[in-house]
This record gives sequence, structure tokens and C-alpha cells, in this order.
Amino acid sequence: MSKANPLPTLAILGGTGKEGPGLALRWASAGYPILIGSRQAEKAEATAAELNAKLGQDCARGLENSAAARQADICVLTVVATAHQVALEGLKDALLGKILVDATARVDFRDPRPPAAPSAARAAQELLGPGVRVTAAYQNVPASALKKNLGETLDLDVLVCADDLDAAQAVMQLTEAAGMNAYYAGNLDNALIVEGLTSLLISINKHHGGHASIRVTGVERAA
Ligand SMILES: NC(=O)c1ccc[n+]([C@@H]2O[C@H](COP(=O)([O-])OP(=O)(O)OC[C@H]3O[C@@H](n4cnc5c(N)ncnc54)[C@H](OP(=O)(O)O)[C@@H]3O)[C@@H](O)[C@H]2O)c1
Repeated sequence: MSKANPLPTLAILGGTGKEGPGLALRWASAGYPILIGSRQAEKAEATAAELNAKLGQDCARGLENSAAARQADICVLTVVATAHQVALEGLKDALLGKILVDATARVDFRDPRPPAAPSAARAAQELLGPGVRVTAAYQNVPASALKKNLGETLDLDVLVCADDLDAAQAVMQLTEAAGMNAYYAGNLDNALIVEGLTSLLISINKHHGGHASIRVTGVERAA
């Protein structure tokens, strides 16, 4: 990994599952230095090694979650939804001063229903306090889509919610770099609706098959 890389270092916390490695792969292929986080450093190292092998370059390292968070500029939380609170409690100090992107969608795949308020991202902001700028994104992006068409723009859009517009802007830029169109979609309370959309998308998948995501229409995008 080059120390001269001007791009921010990204930590994917809980990056050993399904969603985290997919996001990491797209950012790594766009040149971002990646730290894969896990509760076990060895597990993170194994996922990082897989990413490096896939891309044929040394762009990812594996670390225990809090070590990864401390060394990163921007952190992305992709722990299993049921571990959201416990994971954040353990990472509170390590996340101080960072932007945290919360990808959590609290939906039961067997019985998809709207999640209860507050949004996972709002709960994260309340738990972490004002020293962390929480944003919410990727709740509607299926892990399966992320591994395909590297280097191309995906056929889906990403809704980015944040109370802090500068943090939202940074996350939209990251999202575009990963080959996904991004839209600012309001504050962290709106992330509850985005989580709920995942419930709709799973219901669509169950009925029609496939890996549904969302598209925004009727908006002029800056070139
Ligand atoms: N899968 C998708 O298509 C998808 C799409 C959109 C959004 N999301 C969201 O992305 C997040 C991750 O989803 P996923 O499908 O990737 O989940 P996952 O594969 O089930 O789990 C992700 C990681 O969570 C960590 N974890 C498990 N229990 C934990 C605990 N008690 N404390 C801390 N970490 C724990 C594990 O990492 P270690 O064992 O290495 O610590 C695991 O590799 C979820 O919030 C989900 O709602 C998923």
C-alpha cells in the first residue's frame, strides 16, 4: 500500500461478511487504500488477502475493528444488523473525529417488514455523539451487485442521508468512485425510510426473483 496515496484510507468494519468485501473491492479497484476490520485480526487478514489476490495488487490490509477504525480517514460499518449496537459501543473511542458510513438495514429476510424508528444511523449518531459524523448509505445495494462489472457504473442508485452536508458530500464522492450514482436524501431520520425500502426490495425479490435495487428519476445530475 503506497504511503503517498492522496486518497482517504477507508476502514470497512465488519468487512468480512457479504456487503463489506463487495464495497471494499470496488474502492480498492478505484485506488483507495483499504483496511478490512473484524473482531478477529486473522479473519480480516484473510479477507484482505482475497481482495488483493482478486485485484492482483496490495491494496488491502486486515486488522481488528478498532485498530482499523483508528487508522482510517473514513469508516464504513457493515457488521450484521443484529450486532449494530454492540459493535458501535466497542468502537466509540476509535471512531472519534471520523466520518462513519452506516450501511445497516434492519430487515429480516424471512419476514421483511418496516423497521422501527429511529433509523440505525440515527441510533448510531446518538450513541457515538457529536464527535463522529454519521452518514447512512448502501442499505439498498445488494452484496451480489457489488462484485459485478468492476470499473463500470452499476445499474442502481445510492441514497445518502446525513445531518452534516460536508460528510454527505464526502460519502457521495466515495460512492461515485465505486461506480454508483449517489443522491443526498436528507438527514439521518430519513435513513429509516431507506432501511424500509430494503424490506420492499426483498419482498420484490421473493415474488419476482432477482436482486432489486432502486433508481431515482427526474433529477438533473451535474456532469
Ligand atoms: N448482504 C447484503 O446484500 C446487504 C445489502 C445492503 C445492506 N446490508 C447491510 O450490511 C450489513 C452487513 O450485512 P452482511 O450481509 O454483510 O452481514 P454478514 O455477512 O452476516 O455479517 C457481516 C459481519 O458482521 C460481523 N459480526 C457478526 N456478529 C458480530 C458481533 N456480535 N459483533 C460485531 N461484529 C459482528 C462479522 O464479522 P467478524 O466475524 O469478522 O467480526 C461478519 O463478517 C448489515 O447491516 C446489512 O443490513 C447488507
